[in-house]
Amino acid sequence: MMKALILSGGKGTRLRPLTYTSAKQLVPVANKPVLFYGIESVVAAGITEVGIIVGDTQEEIRAAVGDGSQFGAKVTYIPQDAPLGLAHAVLIAEEFIGEDSFVMYLGDNMIAGGITGLVNEYLELGCNSEILLAEVPNPQQFGVAELTEEGQIQRLVEKPEEPRSNLALVGVYMFDSTIFESVKRIQPSARGELEITDAIQDLIDRGLSVHPHVVRGWWKDTGKLEDMLEANRIILETLDVRRSDHQHRYPGCQLEGRVEIGEGTEIVDSVIRGPVVIGAGSRIEQAFVGPYTSIGDGCTLIGCELENSIILEGSEICRVPRRIDGSLIGRNARIVATDRKPKAHRFMLGDNCEVEIS
Ligand code: G1P
Repeated sequence: MMKALILSGGKGTRLRPLTYTSAKQLVPVANKPVLFYGIESVVAAGITEVGIIVGDTQEEIRAAVGDGSQFGAKVTYIPQDAPLGLAHAVLIAEEFIGEDSFVMYLGDNMIAGGITGLVNEYLELGCNSEILLAEVPNPQQFGVAELTEEGQIQRLVEKPEEPRSNLALVGVYMFDSTIFESVKRIQPSARGELEITDAIQDLIDRGLSVHPHVVRGWWKDTGKLEDMLEANRIILETLDVRRSDHQHRYPGCQLEGRVEIGEGTEIVDSVIRGPVVIGAGSRIEQAFVGPYTSIGDGCTLIGCELENSIILEGSEICRVPRRIDGSLIGRNARIVATDRKPKAHRFMLGDNCEVEIS
């Protein structure tokens, strides 16, 4: 039987300020937390025994995922006291994994078409480990693989300054229990972490079999704003709803393309151009919501235009004179125009917020 180890710790510094109040793995893509896509793809691959490594944000992760029954999984939480690296996460999961093989899935990664084919390939090959590689334009920011001409792994290096290839390690790995000896043999890296990349290199040094699989579809590590927006665009692109499902519910509105609208949401005198998802209990009035936008539950949008953005629940955007684009807005945020004097921009922003005015 195979198990899964999903990593959902980390500070998410590149998504501040959202990550001050929520885990980065819970930021929604098309109104669903990134982490849920990972759990669903693990369950779709037939794996239901799921360990989740949690850190500082464990309360939120536990509240969102619960015992896993909503996914058809049985979840065991494994707290990691400090972010000491991905290989350290494997180390502390030894008791949970036992003698089984497992897929390790980084909770902020999303991969096209899920992992069912990959898990099956790993089981059929019978190798000790299978890793996924994807071509990226910025390999310095990832673990990087060098392959031989025959396509075997020559070397793996974590975030090399001068990468010898453009093949990044994707955050989905398959291991058998030989990995435990390797995570105990390696030393912390320059950033003070036990790197899974080094542990896999150690498997190779020990003469064990590691199969590299180059993925051809899309793959996203959603650490930054641009990645979140891109993941959002990719998922919305697959949205499957018909315009006729809604058109009659919103007379006087123009609904174009694929638009998903939640219960109790009111839309008045507006143009919605899909792909767009809107949660439940929101109000949209005299607004334009353009392609690749996800709007959470209980939002209010009046007299504004936005596109290519993610708006979390309870936010309010009113009478903003310019179109809002490429934005990620947290919960209960307010962006409103007023007639108050003096005529000025007024902000109350949390730490590490970013506002760009054109
Ligand atoms: C981690 C791994 C790296 C891998 C990446 C994939 O990086 O260390 O090898 O390429 O995940 O998302 P981190 O997110 O810790 O910077």
